[in-house]
Amino acid sequence: MMSRIILFMLLTLYVQCKICPTTKIINSVMNFKKLENCSQIAGDLMILLLENTQSESEFNDYVFPDLLAVSGYLLFFKVNHLTSIGQLFPNLHLIRGQNLIKDYSLIIFDMPHLLQVRTYSKLFR
Ligand SMILES: *[C@@H]1O[C@H](CO)[C@@H](O)[C@H](O)[C@H]1NC(C)=O
Repeated sequence: MMSRIILFMLLTLYVQCKICPTTKIINSVMNFKKLENCSQIAGDLMILLLENTQSESEFNDYVFPDLLAVSGYLLFFKVNHLTSIGQLFPNLHLIRGQNLIKDYSLIIFDMPHLLQVRTYSKLFR
């Protein structure tokens, strides 16, 4: 009986935790679909060269509240019209930095419209 309950709990946990490998979102916001349901990135997350965006609203469909942690680094490079990283990943609370670029685990470079790195709204609701 007990072991069945534990098995059920493990299964539930397994279903809820989708661990995704190193992921590169490049060229088109449509590629954000690769992050669907990911709760952890076992590796690095690179979001770069999204230069064809026309407005901030193009990011509205891409919100990843399930993503909690990245084990390597998180890189943003040349993502036009993105104003808030916190809006994309409202619950991301851990970047382990097991891989680094130079000495950095969080790299935000050449982001012309960025205003905000993270939001606290979800945490303190
Ligand atoms: C994400 O989860 C939803 C609901 O469980 C499922 O319908 C969908 O196929 C999943 N997508 C991916 C890419 O795993």
